[in-house]
Amino acid sequence: MTINQQDLATLPSTTNTIDSDNIEKKAIAETVIHTESNSVNECVEAEPTEEDSVDITHLRTPIKVDLSPVYDFLGARTTQAWVNAAIENLPLIIQDHANCEKKAAGTAMNLIFRYEFSYDLQRKLAQLIREEMLHYEQVLGIMNERGQEWKYLSAGRYAKGMLKHKRTYEPAAMVDVLIIGAFIEARSCERFAALAEVIDDERLAKYYRYLLKSESRHFEDYLALAQSLSDENIDERVAFFKEVEAELISSPDAELRFHSGTPA
Ligand SMILES: [Fe+2]
Ligand SMILES: [Fe+2]
Repeated sequence: MTINQQDLATLPSTTNTIDSDNIEKKAIAETVIHTESNSVNECVEAEPTEEDSVDITHLRTPIKVDLSPVYDFLGARTTQAWVNAAIENLPLIIQDHANCEKKAAGTAMNLIFRYEFSYDLQRKLAQLIREEMLHYEQVLGIMNERGQEWKYLSAGRYAKGMLKHKRTYEPAAMVDVLIIGAFIEARSCERFAALAEVIDDERLAKYYRYLLKSESRHFEDYLALAQSLSDENIDERVAFFKEVEAELISSPDAELRFHSGTPA
């Protein structure tokens, strides 16, 4: 026995009289609906939502994100010279962006294994890892559609330049890593916004604007975690890394990377 959509549309939604024909139709309809929804769950993978689509074609239109907390947090803005160099070397920046997403997930995974005592930390980092790996897949897709092959790129000086100041005892080491994470996320956000404004590729510009929401949240999450897991006020430590980070971004840098300094 089959029943099509038109048949379903003609079924009464309520019935006050005992109408065996209608009761039978309703029962059939419910069976069909139930069976269809079961088969969808069992046989077909759910369509990715706009939020988590690996193909950037299906991403939602980016909402406007207030970047003032990001700009206030950072001690220096990206120079025009870096933006110009990045636009001229877009494949290198895209490659390094892919590296950054993978490293962001890897760093968060290390933290998850090292600091298992905090429920809040585990939850926030688990979400962050998921999002960074999705970004990684999305950037791989961008490289693929641009016909860009994977190319080895050594790490720049940026993260090392901050990590060398990490204190070596706990919980100070953990707090420093979380503060450094906040700076890396905030800087990524600032640079995506800077690139999105000038990039001559509307699809890529839209993708960079899409990233602003999650990356600005990552910055806030790292900062909040650092404060919540520290017995002391972290303002002094934040101010210290603010200077270190600003110096790495503003001073001449021989290597162009996503987080490099001003081109030498
Ligand atoms: Fe990311
Ligand atoms: Fe991130």
